Amino acid sequence: MSVAHDSLPQPRRFAPAGPLSGAIRVPGDKSISHRSLMLGALAVGETRVTGLLEGEDVLATAAAMRAMGATIDRLPHGEWVISGVGVGGLLQPGAPLDMGNSGTSTRLLMGLVASHAITATFVGDASLSKRPMARVIEPLSQMGAEFSGDNGDRLPLTLRGICPAAPITYRLPMASAQVKSAVLLAALNTAGTTTVIEPVPTRDHSERMLRGFGADLSVTEKDGERVITLSGPAELKAQTIEVPGDPSSAAFFVVAALIVPGSDVTIANVGLNPTRAGLFDVLRQMGGQIEEVNPRVVGGEPVADLRVRHSALTGIAVDPAIAPSMIDEFPVLFVAAAIAHGTTVTSGLDELRVKESDRLTAMAEALTLAGARVEEREDGLVIHGTGGTPLPGTPAGAAVVTHLDHRIAMSMAVAGLASTGGVEVDDIRPIATSFPNFLSLLESLGG
Ligand code: S3P
Repeated sequence: MSVAHDSLPQPRRFAPAGPLSGAIRVPGDKSISHRSLMLGALAVGETRVTGLLEGEDVLATAAAMRAMGATIDRLPHGEWVISGVGVGGLLQPGAPLDMGNSGTSTRLLMGLVASHAITATFVGDASLSKRPMARVIEPLSQMGAEFSGDNGDRLPLTLRGICPAAPITYRLPMASAQVKSAVLLAALNTAGTTTVIEPVPTRDHSERMLRGFGADLSVTEKDGERVITLSGPAELKAQTIEVPGDPSSAAFFVVAALIVPGSDVTIANVGLNPTRAGLFDVLRQMGGQIEEVNPRVVGGEPVADLRVRHSALTGIAVDPAIAPSMIDEFPVLFVAAAIAHGTTVTSGLDELRVKESDRLTAMAEALTLAGARVEEREDGLVIHGTGGTPLPGTPAGAAVVTHLDHRIAMSMAVAGLASTGGVEVDDIRPIATSFPNFLSLLESLGG
């Protein structure tokens, strides 16, 4: 399933492009797709999902839910149908769960398994096996689950769930929607009230969707913090879900259109949940022309078409408070900053060091190789833009290193479009984890 297991690195050169023009539609939101499969698999009845992202990460979640008893089928026209087992009904998987590259699958599924009386072993690729799991081990152990493994808190890990688990009150020590969601998912099969306190708000898809499936969940605010309570055990009812387009995937085309001269691109059906849409605000502050057309609601989430035109961008100091609402978009923001006038300063980004790669070091090294002026700090990058001139591109014989990180690969592909000599990327296989048709959409716009 995951790229690291079964094929050789696939290098690719991204050459400078003429103006990008046309209209595209990006695939479904990754966070919502994972949650649709998980909640559908726990609900009673038949959940139907359209617009599901069919990337490797989401397919890893589907395989795991099947291995724990759910029936999940893709119909020929692309709709997905999930027959759930009911909360409390997950079965012991017969083999280790292969999470591939997907941190979201791993951490959220650990939450689900934690409050069932089953044991599951989680394995992943080289990137995922370096990522910290202590952040979910801590609260789930408080609920009574037991973890064991040979590499401290890294995969492979075996999780022994418990039923009944104990409800807890947990204050998130870092801004993480995955940790919040793991605890809330464990709470579904836990009698009593589980409370998660979020000092800094993160993406709220779990809260919206849990409510939509019928869980008894409330969100209040106390002393400036979000307090989420879930009373279990929950009974989830099957739903019909339309997954909106992923703003994190749209981000690559938004930045590409802004930095390639003469571009005018429309991206249809982009999810604009305020806990996700920070990048578009930051790019507008930098002078980007991003127009929201036909705003509407899809699957309970705000959505619009984005019309983006080439713009002269100016560097800014990015407010660290906005970071959680654009946490996956910093790599491509760094590319925009590299072409802007003046300096862009980012801070408060420690979490970027524990994504699919250390995204601060990976992007500092990649952009520097492509000829940008970048300073790496402990918690952010400072980027001195070219003032609108294209980047030189990577030197002959050298390639940027993506470290099995899809967002590094796609960000540097975008940088290649706005370079004079092109950008060589060492391995584009990871793009399939989140955005399988990235290259064909890029080609359709003339890139
Ligand atoms: C996600 C949460 C974020 C994000 C990831 C998806 C989710 O991770 O980076 O791509 O779906 O909950 P963190 O919780 O580690 O910030």
